[in-house]
Amino acid sequence: MSDKFVTTLAPMAGYTDFAYRTICKDFGADLTVTEMVSSKALVMGNELSRRMLFREETSPAFCQIFGHEPDIMAESVQIPEVMNYDGVDINMGCPVRKIVSNGDGSALFENPRLASQCISAVKLALKNKPVSVKFRLGISDSDGAVDFAKMCRDSGADFVTVHFRTRKQMYSGDADFTLLPKLSQLGIPIIANGDISTKQQCEKMREMGASGVAVGRAAFGRPYIFSELKDKRFEFDALDAIESHAKLLCKIFNERVVANEMKKHIACYLKGKRNGKSVTVEVMNAHDLDEITALCRNFFQTYPQLRRTIG
Ligand SMILES: Cc1cc2nc3c(=O)[nH]c(=O)nc-3n(C[C@H](O)[C@H](O)[C@H](O)COP(=O)(O)O)c2cc1C
Repeated sequence: MSDKFVTTLAPMAGYTDFAYRTICKDFGADLTVTEMVSSKALVMGNELSRRMLFREETSPAFCQIFGHEPDIMAESVQIPEVMNYDGVDINMGCPVRKIVSNGDGSALFENPRLASQCISAVKLALKNKPVSVKFRLGISDSDGAVDFAKMCRDSGADFVTVHFRTRKQMYSGDADFTLLPKLSQLGIPIIANGDISTKQQCEKMREMGASGVAVGRAAFGRPYIFSELKDKRFEFDALDAIESHAKLLCKIFNERVVANEMKKHIACYLKGKRNGKSVTVEVMNAHDLDEITALCRNFFQTYPQLRRTIG
């Protein structure tokens, strides 16, 4: 990792598809990470998992995998779709019951020996490419975080992204960055994650020793947040973003799938806009992509002043 403070688009299943990652890159995200993909599904040749790894964004971009079997994880990163990325991030933080009960995601936080084997196996298989690990502060407190970060470092991880919430917190409650200074003294770069949305917070994270930040939900519908975090000028046109997002997705999905995917993205792009709620409801009930596009065009024709955000 370079000395530069890095702004990352956090991986978010169902949201950070290749189209959104590409748009975030255009607005200055330094690093993007794919949605989590099952290493087992990749190895078994699952078509959807492989398609989820379609990539168009510029480097650096990481692919995130989950799993708990070192051999399978190592095999998965040698698949061309994964090799097409600049590095691999291993998910050791996911709190979702279905994932944890399978021994994946944050279950590995409770099994550091196996977690270490997974990291080493992936690192070996990746040869010279970097590997990172994303994990949470802990299960219900932060007692194990320092040891887990040390284990990641000693197993070959090049950096770690820490979501400063516990698994018990899921996605609510404040992120607690108290441990960040200690973690950043361990000799492995730390990307801080949890409710980051302003330049001031980035400054604070940098002062506390972080090498960068990962922005999650604050990036929903606001790809320009990456320009804001760097005080870079930008012009964001919501209708253009919606149309290019859909057009990009059409490269890999049929129109029916794109229409469904776009519904949630449009809800994000329109969130907080005056009169945006009623059109969002209409979009949710629309039958196809043409109808969705027409509704959005009509909305911005009626309220042209809501189309552009300039910073
Ligand atoms: C809808 C959703 C999907 C997520 N999917 C993933 C995922 O696939 N992999 C992962 O490591 N974290 C995932 N996360 C966690 C985020 O990467 C991030 O750690 C979390 O949202 C905290 O950051 P924030 O407070 O800035 O949103 C997801 C979060 C949300 C809200």
